[in-house]
Amino acid sequence: MTTWLVTGGAGYIGAHVARRLQASGRDVVVVDDLSTGFASFVPEGARFLERRIHDLTADDLRGIDGVVHLAALKYAGLSVQEPLHFYRNNVDGMAALLEAMVAAEVWPLVYSGSCSVYGTPAAERVDEDTPIGPESPYGETKLLGEWLSRDVAAVHPLRWTSLRYFNVVGSAYDDVYDASPHNLFPLVFRALDAGEEPLVHGTDYPTPDGSCIRDYIHVGDLADAHVLAAEHLEAGRPIRTSYNIGTGTGASVLGVIDSIRRVLGRDVDPVLGPRRAGDPARIIADGRRAREDLGWTPEADLDDMVRDAWASWRRGAAG
Ligand SMILES: NC(=O)c1ccc[n+]([C@@H]2O[C@H](COP(=O)([O-])OP(=O)(O)OC[C@H]3O[C@@H](n4cnc5c(N)ncnc54)[C@H](O)[C@@H]3O)[C@@H](O)[C@H]2O)c1
Repeated sequence: MTTWLVTGGAGYIGAHVARRLQASGRDVVVVDDLSTGFASFVPEGARFLERRIHDLTADDLRGIDGVVHLAALKYAGLSVQEPLHFYRNNVDGMAALLEAMVAAEVWPLVYSGSCSVYGTPAAERVDEDTPIGPESPYGETKLLGEWLSRDVAAVHPLRWTSLRYFNVVGSAYDDVYDASPHNLFPLVFRALDAGEEPLVHGTDYPTPDGSCIRDYIHVGDLADAHVLAAEHLEAGRPIRTSYNIGTGTGASVLGVIDSIRRVLGRDVDPVLGPRRAGDPARIIADGRRAREDLGWTPEADLDDMVRDAWASWRRGAAG
């Protein structure tokens, strides 16, 4: 049995990844400073180090066979206001993690990349060769994480891949939910709970209905991609340094609200507000590389994502 360190494993996505790694027969150690995560999300049976990744040492990595690195601050809009905070947390933190990995000679790394590295792409569907051009300090820190990995791999036997997530939603475990104060699903759910109408940020984008278009991916499908990447790294199978993790289907913000109406069976009459800084108009994945190389196939559709997100929201945030 191998043991994987999951940084950010008390967070929304990390908790899913930790559980799927356990379900695949691996042991898990979670490192998280609980800055945005919850101790209750750490799965039973996982050892939990409540610590900043900046403070990890080689000793903490003894007995670890590989690392999934998710710990980061993630809000593009906020990063425009507080760039240094994001650089300190995401870039300095990752450099410290890599230092500890090199010192402990732990070489497999699955990194939480992001579609934000592409900014607003000209391509209809974004593949991994689409030119990069992040539009926020957050996106820049995610790109720098890849560059740090690349540069370390040039001089050490680090074997790494970046899974560039598109828009992650839903839940595969009812006790783990997206608590984000800025992401679309929790924003809408929070407004509905408060008896208010949700705010849509921008309806004058160059898209058919004027709202931003995103490629939403179910967090359970996303977590499975990490297990496949871990398997490839463990087995020494060829793996590329970047994979887009999306469904290849775009949905507009107003389209998501339609799905919420349908799944929840209630009226939602959004308030149409101004644009938010750091939000590209449209981005959809071409995820063929992950399907071909990793054998990864996403299964959930938008209504599944809304249904599962709502169930976990009811149990977690509102419950
Ligand atoms: N949610 C999305 O749609 C999305 C899209 C693309 C990429 N990502 C990436 O996925 C990863 C996880 O995102 P999430 O949605 O689960 O967010 P989250 O905030 O729920 O999880 C991040 C976790 O990392 C922890 N953390 C942050 N900085 C830390 C540090 N310095 N030391 C130790 N722990 C720290 C937090 O406490 C939290 O538990 C992030 O790297 C994010 O950039 C998310």
